[in-house]
Amino acid sequence: MAGTKVDERLTHIAFIMDGNGRWAKKRGMPREYGHSVGAKTFERVIRYCGDIGIRAVTVYAFSTENWKRPETEVRAIMKIFGEYLNVARKKADENSVHVVFLGDKRIFPADVQEKMTALENETAHNPLLLNIAVNYGGRDEIVHAVNTLIAEGKTEITEDDITANLYTAHCPPPDLIVRTGAERRLSNFLLWQSAYAELYFCDTLWPDMGEDDINAAVEDFYSRKRRYGGI
Ligand code: FPP
Repeated sequence: MAGTKVDERLTHIAFIMDGNGRWAKKRGMPREYGHSVGAKTFERVIRYCGDIGIRAVTVYAFSTENWKRPETEVRAIMKIFGEYLNVARKKADENSVHVVFLGDKRIFPADVQEKMTALENETAHNPLLLNIAVNYGGRDEIVHAVNTLIAEGKTEITEDDITANLYTAHCPPPDLIVRTGAERRLSNFLLWQSAYAELYFCDTLWPDMGEDDINAAVEDFYSRKRRYGGI
């Protein structure tokens, strides 16, 4: 399967882009440098996912917990994010990408929120869905969904109600979640949606993530038997 097109069993891949800081440190560079190279890797990975026929990609760019990082690092990541927003429209059309942001946008300045919403609307015609999780937390997302339902006056809540009120209501759950950077945990990413996702962990640090790593993850996915609790 590696290097060839995926089929309907694998439509949605999610990435926990870990290892930027260590990648930079190994080169004697500041962590911020790792994030800016990581942003280039992000573009490359999206393109390759589109090439092999993936329909939806989700990336974990900034969590609700990442605000705890040193101010200089937070500022650097937000600068990269702002620069991306300025060119994203053109890039999205080049790569046929429909960008959607997952997370609570209200933390961002009004002009940034406007750019995010405009990008979502203006790229909606593109076929490859790209969910970018920023100021995203899986627990926060579930609480947000429940509070929305309470505000609607619901007194009894079903699984479908919660699913329909998550930031990911517009897409199916991920089939495969890939985490780079040698850690083996979800770190508050897609907690509800990952219930039956296949998990793949690799040691590659995110800036080095390449086609071979993605092919290996895809090949591993196709070796799994997905039973969803059945036999
Ligand atoms: C995790 O590596 C990475 C992040 C918290 C930030 C990821 C952000 C980018 C790749 C830029 C994304 C840009 C756009 C436009 C979506 P780490 O810093 O935790 O690495 P470490 O574990 O080696 O310290």
